[in-house]
This record gives sequence, structure tokens and C-alpha cells, in this order.
Amino acid sequence: MPSTIIIFGASGDLTSRKLVPALYQLFRKERLAGPVRLVGFSRSEFSHEEWRSTLAVTTGEFVGEKFDGGKWAEFAAHIYYHQGDIGKAEDFQSLSQFLDEIEEGSPSDRLYYLSTAPRFYQPAIQQLGSSGLASERTGSRRVVIEKPFGTDLESAQDLNRATHEVFGEHQVYRIDHYLGKETVQNLMVLRFGNTIFEPIWNRNYIEHVQITVAEEVDVGSRAGYYDSAGIIRDMIQNHLLQLLMITAMEAPVRYEADAIRNEKVKVLDAIQPLGAEQVAKDTFRGQYRGYSALEGVEAPSRTATFAGLKLSIDNWRWQGVPFYLRSGKGMSCRTTQIVIQFHAPPHKLFADSPRDLGEANRLVIQVQPAEGIQLHFQTKVPDAGMRMRQTDLNFNYQKEFRGSMPEAYERLLLDALEGDASLFARADEVEAAWRICDPILGAWKTSDRPSLFMYDTGFWGPDECREWMLAQGREWYDTCPLLG
Ligand code: BG6
Repeated sequence: MPSTIIIFGASGDLTSRKLVPALYQLFRKERLAGPVRLVGFSRSEFSHEEWRSTLAVTTGEFVGEKFDGGKWAEFAAHIYYHQGDIGKAEDFQSLSQFLDEIEEGSPSDRLYYLSTAPRFYQPAIQQLGSSGLASERTGSRRVVIEKPFGTDLESAQDLNRATHEVFGEHQVYRIDHYLGKETVQNLMVLRFGNTIFEPIWNRNYIEHVQITVAEEVDVGSRAGYYDSAGIIRDMIQNHLLQLLMITAMEAPVRYEADAIRNEKVKVLDAIQPLGAEQVAKDTFRGQYRGYSALEGVEAPSRTATFAGLKLSIDNWRWQGVPFYLRSGKGMSCRTTQIVIQFHAPPHKLFADSPRDLGEANRLVIQVQPAEGIQLHFQTKVPDAGMRMRQTDLNFNYQKEFRGSMPEAYERLLLDALEGDASLFARADEVEAAWRICDPILGAWKTSDRPSLFMYDTGFWGPDECREWMLAQGREWYDTCPLLG
């Protein structure tokens, strides 16, 4: 069956940087099951031809040497532009007519992609409903909603309610692009496609877990948005909690959207939202020096650009195993890592054992950019008595599979076109994530505890965060991955 993808907010950055390059790649690799038309909708003025030419340039930039003029021309022949305003009912009527025209009255699936500013999500959904564009008479109608999905629990619930007035949950695809990353999907394969990890993947063997998403870049030109979002809304509520869910979930009964999402939601349900005292004790916030001077920031800003959290998952598998989450802008390097730290041996047999702050007995899942997995363990140094040193087994995607990793959006767009919601967040999942984040945001707003620590860019966030971890007898895994 042919499909039509309609991107609302088509003149924005996401369309040119991610969506169109991903669709072009899917087309080039012949991954699309049937013919796909693409319609851009936004207020800017473009003719079809002008929009195609603009996208040819940007796609060429983002795809690099994989860009093939001939293939692009084939792909671009099915790209259209429809000027319109989300606030105007008549523009949705004309969009509806336009879609009927290009689909030539034949059945076609449609994917409505909301890539607008978040305040337009609800109006766009309402207009899709009232213009009849959500009706599934002539094919499936699905809506993809970009993050952020709400700014707190209440707004997320409102958005879910408004969405469900028009679309059934099975038609809704809430994007978190981290789920489209190969290494995140591989985490499920690592855990549930092997037998050797699962027996030790629990409180009996694991001492603690660290999930770090460090970004070398600072807030840059996005300060206007970022100052009201901050690190919790921008990264923790979505990307880090997704990584946590997949690390901690039980095995789903089958690889299917609801079975997977049921297990993920149970993880969030087992996390007790932190009370004010716990927020003061178990969360950590920082801001990089110079942030307040950015254009778009209301100085002096109290927005956190760095967070460290300690969460507990109160269930049989994880009772007593702290999960540390950390993310920051302006850090030492770009790295997303999940560190599974196993217990130290119960009895110190070798006198020369190094201090047991967890240099060995550690599994490091490199989500990006040096995608891979390392297992760190102690080894006897040859010809040196019983001296030990930490060594590792190293699996590296680049070396093993060659070729570059596909962009997360390729997988996600393909799944949304095919109606597979396994890698998308369900309504209850986003709400459960806000239930964990809301009390932190609330306490950070009303109390001075924890303090907002300043840090210099180019390191691992505030020194105090390192000390906080050391005081708990643990150490952050502050290691930039080796690239190349
Ligand atoms: C986005 C955040 O969701 O994820 C950005 O809004 C962040 O602030 C980005 O930079 C990180 O994504 P990635 O794929 O580069 O790790």
C-alpha cells in the first residue's frame, strides 16, 4: 500500500537535518515497502520545486558521500509542499483536497508527523480531527509526536487526552530518538538474545548502575528553548529514563509493542517519586559557567545544564541497587554509556588486589559514539608475582560490522510507516516518566537544596558531583571513548 507522510512544521530544522535525510536513505537502500510521498506543510512559502531544491542541498550535506543525484531525483519526484497555517481550518481542508489529488483517489496510509513547536501539537491534532483527516476509511492514519511530550505531568496528561479525542492509542507514535539508536536496541538483544548475562543481571551480582549522557556541546543557539526546559526536561525525562527502562526491564513475553512497553512501564512504576528531603540528598544540579550570559537566557538563570540523580527501583530484581543517572552540556566529550558495576569479590584472596572502587567486574555499554561493549576484569600481570591489572574484552561495532551506523530516524520512520510502535513511548510511559521528574523539578524550583553548582565546560560537570559519588563509596566512570 502506498503511504503519504505529511510533515507539519516542515520548514524547521528537524525536517532538513533528520527526517528527509533518513527517508532518502531508506529509499536509497530500498527499505520502503511501497511508494512513499512526502508533503511538507508550514507557513513559509515554497513551490514544490523550490522545496525540493532546498532539500536536495540540505540532504546532500547531511548524507555526505551517500548522496546520489540520480536516486535523489527519483525520490524527490514524490516530494510536495503545501503552504498552510495550523491555526486555520480552511488550510486543513485544502490540505485534505491536495492529499486526495496526489493520491489520485486510491487508498493510501498516512503518517502525520508533528515537527512543530510543541504548543502547536494540540491545535494540529484537533484540526486533523475536525477536517476528517484522521478517518481511517481509506488507509491507516498515524500521528508521530516529537518530544517534548508535555512539560510536566499535567500538560502531558492534557496532551494525551486531546490526542485520544482524535486518535486511538494504536495510532499514536511518541518519538524518543534514543530508541532508534542501534545500540539501544542491542541492549535488548544483549540481555534477551543471550543467556549469559540475564542470570547475573540483578541485585545479587550488580552493585550499582550508571547511565551517563554527556554532551561536549553547550546550549548554543537553543537557549530560548533550553532556559525553560533545562536538563531534566530536555534529557532525563525522556532519553535517560528510556535507557534506564531497557536496562532494568523484565524480559517481555514477545517482541511486540505492548509486551515491551508493559515491561518498561513497570520499571517506572517501581521508582518511588523522590520527596523533598530525598531530592536534596539524592539529586545534584549544575550549570556551566557562561550559560547565563547566552542570548535568550534571563540572567541570572537557575536552569540546570547538568544533573546527577540516584534512583531506586523497588522490585525483586533491583532492590538496593542504586541507578545513577547523569547528563550535562559542556562536558569533557560526547559519550553515552551504561555502566553495570558488579560486586567486588566477597573475599580478598590476593594481597595485591587493587582498591575495589570498581575498576574491574564492570560491563560498559557504549551507546555512542564509539558504539560497542567492554567487559573489564582483573588479570594477572605476567612475571610480577600475583599482581593484578584491569584488562578488557572489547567489542566494537565499527570493527565488527564495518559501514556507518544508520541514523535513529531511519529505523523510527520505517517502524511508524509499518505500524510497529515497539520503539515509541506509550501514553502511560510518558506520564510515568513525568511522575518521577515532576517532584525533582518542583523541589529544584522552591528550595536551595541541592545547591546549583557552577562548572567549567570541558570537564565532567561540577567537582562536587564527583565528591558526592565518592562519599557513597563509588566512582563515576569518567572515560571518553576511543574513537577510530
Ligand atoms: C535532544 C535534546 O533530544 O537530544 C538535545 O533536545 C540533545 O539537547 C540531543 O543535544 C542529543 O541527542 P544525540 O542523539 O546527539 O545524543
